[in-house]
Amino acid sequence: VIDVRKLYAETGHFTYDPGFTSTGSCESALTFIDGDEGILLHRGYSIEDLAENSDFLDVAYLLLYGDLPNKDQKKKFDRDVTYHTMVHEQLSNFYRGFRRDAHPMAVLCGVIGALSAFYHDSTDIHDERQRMVASFRLIAKMPTIAAMAYKYSVGQPFNYPRNDLTYAENFLHMMFAVPAEPYKMSPTIARAMDRILILHADHEQNASTSTVRLSGSSGANPFACIAAGIASLWGPAHGGANEAVLNMLQEIGHKDNINEYIKKAKDKDDPFRLMGFGHRVYKNYDPRAKVMQKSCHEVLAELDLDDPLLELAMALEKIALEDDYFVEKKLFPNVDFYSGIVLKALGFPTSMFTVLFAVARTVGWVAQWKEMIEDPSQKIGRPRQLYTGPAQRAYVPLGDR
Ligand code: ACO
Repeated sequence: VIDVRKLYAETGHFTYDPGFTSTGSCESALTFIDGDEGILLHRGYSIEDLAENSDFLDVAYLLLYGDLPNKDQKKKFDRDVTYHTMVHEQLSNFYRGFRRDAHPMAVLCGVIGALSAFYHDSTDIHDERQRMVASFRLIAKMPTIAAMAYKYSVGQPFNYPRNDLTYAENFLHMMFAVPAEPYKMSPTIARAMDRILILHADHEQNASTSTVRLSGSSGANPFACIAAGIASLWGPAHGGANEAVLNMLQEIGHKDNINEYIKKAKDKDDPFRLMGFGHRVYKNYDPRAKVMQKSCHEVLAELDLDDPLLELAMALEKIALEDDYFVEKKLFPNVDFYSGIVLKALGFPTSMFTVLFAVARTVGWVAQWKEMIEDPSQKIGRPRQLYTGPAQRAYVPLGDR
């Protein structure tokens, strides 16, 4: 391993690595990925084991504190999170300033950024207690804020959180209950929701997490840093991919059209890419996609939905996995390929897909941010550049240009 800092100090040279494909930006004990083998571990536990045996707040505890909670720790942690699920009543006024047809991700960026204006008492990053309170607030309030963004867009009243429900159940309640009718909770659906949250909880130094760390490295408050992460997540090459998958499946429309789209995806003069395929790190099956595929079948069986989009997705997956181009470039389905179909079955509109990803990833962002702030060797992030502009030249007065 090259010690880049030493190299720079001794030679004045730095590494040029567009997209940071081979640059480690930090040390982290949270998440391990082996992209060639298709392995994802949180604090040493496999994502498959966590998705099968834990609930989302277990995983949140694991990421924040380093180990799975025992019964007492779990009870206290669940209580500490649920204590913060309400948002300041005045925050609802903030929503009313947005257009009704605003994308919920746009609303989420704005409202989360505004949290530092509401919760001044947890913005001092040097105070350990304030850091913890800010972490609880972000994890607890994110589903409330996300559901409010949805309710606002459909013109329904906001639902207050219910602390007698699990994190996943409460989110479903806030999203889908209406005053005239409580949301009918099915254990299979609640479990599927919980799994989606677990599968998206953390994924080491992806674009949005690196954005949170880079913003936080300047000492910015945690609410501002998470808002920056949300903005980065929104892009279709990152968190926006599951929304893009569904749009793509709808555009393909029928199995007979798959080959035409595969051809487009391979054509280098065509910007079209097969959404939900490929990953910067996984050059094998994304382990989260396998769990999500199983969940997808359970949900569709429970709801007795015969979704033609799922059939289309399966056919597309089969054709792409057997295609030389996709095999050669190691382009496998990623987690977003199936999560869009599950979310659609659960009743989420496509515009909420990335919002839901942000709800889950908040845990990872917060844990990564805390890890960075609590690292005594932490420095402000400041990449270098390869300058390609003109050399120094004489200034030309306006009249002579
Ligand atoms: N369809 C067709 N070709 C693809 C695809 C795809 N989905 N993904 C990559 N390729 C090709 C590229 O054209 C490139 O070909 P080349 O070597 O001939 O130039 C090669 O595979 C490598 O691709 P890169 O873009 O260099 O790989 P990178 O690691 O930068 O990109 C990314 C990864 C952004 C995820 C890419 O695979 C992609 O755009 N996929 C579709 C969007 C998507 O599903 N994103 C979700 C990511 S997972 C997440 O955020 C949870």
